[in-house]
Amino acid sequence: MKIILAPMDGLTDVYARELLTRIGGYDLCVTEFLRVTDTLFPSRVFYRRFPELKQNPEIHKQLSHNHPSYSKAIQCHTKSGTPVFLQLLGSDHSAMAENAAKAVQLGAIGIDLNFGCPSKTVNKSDGGASLLKYPEKINQIVSSVRRAVPQDIPVTAKMRLGFNDQSLAHENALAIQDGGANWVTIHARTKKDGYRPPAYWDALAPISDLLDIPVIANGEIWSIDDYFNCRERSTCDSVMLGRGAMVTPNLALQIKQTLNNETVQTLSWQAVTQILENLYGLMLSNPNLKERYIAPRLKLWVKWLMPTYTQAEEIFTQLKLIKDPHQAIKLIKRSR
Ligand SMILES: Cc1cc2nc3c(=O)[nH]c(=O)nc-3n(C[C@H](O)[C@H](O)[C@H](O)COP(=O)(O)O)c2cc1C
Repeated sequence: MKIILAPMDGLTDVYARELLTRIGGYDLCVTEFLRVTDTLFPSRVFYRRFPELKQNPEIHKQLSHNHPSYSKAIQCHTKSGTPVFLQLLGSDHSAMAENAAKAVQLGAIGIDLNFGCPSKTVNKSDGGASLLKYPEKINQIVSSVRRAVPQDIPVTAKMRLGFNDQSLAHENALAIQDGGANWVTIHARTKKDGYRPPAYWDALAPISDLLDIPVIANGEIWSIDDYFNCRERSTCDSVMLGRGAMVTPNLALQIKQTLNNETVQTLSWQAVTQILENLYGLMLSNPNLKERYIAPRLKLWVKWLMPTYTQAEEIFTQLKLIKDPHQAIKLIKRSR
């Protein structure tokens, strides 16, 4: 049973991946999508989207040479040791394969392929969810990428149930399996459904039955109860958590604690503000990140926390007017 942190463009960046996996419960993260057109990216593009691809000396120091994850700990893991896969999005199978191969040469330990993005810009150029209309194209992309990277590197895919309807869901899932993917994550909605509840978890059960590779369920898991309902209806043990991870930062840990019959811990507002302080610290220590980006990022996090924490709601009106990151963090700390 695995819990994967969802790729969410503009949300689960390197900082979110670091802070959420530090809380615990996650077995894997997937980067936000890197959009491939028809060119081979220079290394810096991969590093920008996926900083964990660079060596991670802190983890390197923590593990001894004979630790089982020593070699992998250097690259592609968050500092707390959770592996990270790179997600690629695009419709040109050769360019996808070339870029996947380059990412692996740079050290990537897994490649995830995006067949679910609903963005108009992306769909206009036949990337993301629009590919769900063409199972043969999906198959071609998966098999090209599979052939381009060594067998021991997992190639995985993330799809929605369809574009306008679910009629091609089984064909698309089979196209992914036949292309050689190690598993498929299914966001249990069509592109047309967008992000509107409900997620159609029941639709995953027959797909999971049909495929020999694991199916990871995704969509609308906001609580421990949702996890168990999703698991029962989809028949999938493993899940990917998206927005729920931002709203309840320890959701993955809570699910794992429940499964292990341990006491479920709640995360106090005090602890959450410490996470926000760490976020501020991490961003501030990045010499390549302009200071003006820090306050918006803190505001975004606080906004996502509002459904769970009344304190987040209480400070947000004042916080949203602040541009200076130092003042923003002061206000957050004062709310403890
Ligand atoms: C702001 C935002 C950005 C997203 N970006 C990506 C992305 O880069 N790649 C991807 O495969 N899915 C992306 N998704 C979809 C999520 O990974 C996930 O499938 C979706 O949010 C449903 O899960 P949830 O109901 O748990 O949030 C994004 C979703 C959101 C809300």
